[in-house]
Amino acid sequence: MFNKLKNIASKIAIKYIKNTNIIGIGSGTTISHFIDILYTEKKNIKGVISASKNSTEKLKKYNFNIYEINKIKKIGIYFDSADEINNKMQMIKGGGAALTNEKIISSFSNIFICIIDQSKYVKQLGKLHPVPIEIIPLAKAFIIKQLLCIGAIAKPRINTITEHGNIILDVYKLNLNNPIKIEKYINNIPGVVTVGLFTQRCADIVIIGKNDYTVSVINKKNFQLY
Ligand code: 5RP
Repeated sequence: MFNKLKNIASKIAIKYIKNTNIIGIGSGTTISHFIDILYTEKKNIKGVISASKNSTEKLKKYNFNIYEINKIKKIGIYFDSADEINNKMQMIKGGGAALTNEKIISSFSNIFICIIDQSKYVKQLGKLHPVPIEIIPLAKAFIIKQLLCIGAIAKPRINTITEHGNIILDVYKLNLNNPIKIEKYINNIPGVVTVGLFTQRCADIVIIGKNDYTVSVINKKNFQLY
């Protein structure tokens, strides 16, 4: 069922591509569906900035041009999913360990379109998933201790090395009543590369594949898309 929901939501998301510019693309199973649809609908785009090796591989297989982010001035639209998103468009991301690239590319983009199935649209962040943090391996014990100071339990993710050669801590029992404050707190711990809370760079539009196979679009700020 979840695959079908990712699929129908991706089909709506793709309609937001109105010109042939470069788009940003995230990572994960939802985005894998999105890339398939991008190919089958023959969207005529100039190229793509990709957030992970997996996405890049798939995009190359379909002959999309891959651009390097440092050579680009700005990205129009960024498409990605999330592990959880709330009604303020704040997210937990990083289930696929690509959070650092995802945060950089989305922050470089004018509009962030988040594609999800209904299970990911939550009242409060952190009830379903831990918050991932990419960290420098040397800082592991120190960071775990700093998180313990705020009552959180951080567990190193087994068998995971990020594309930047770092490790991931999955953080449980974080008090996320004020996720903006927590994102800042964790960002300030030495050795943290990226925290998978997206409260500064929130989504602009969320596209939800619902259990009854309809799709809802939330575009609170009425972002006009090219
Ligand atoms: C990867 C991510 C993904 O967007 C998130 O984990 C959702 O993945 P999926 O589409 O497989 O459910 O943040 O780092």
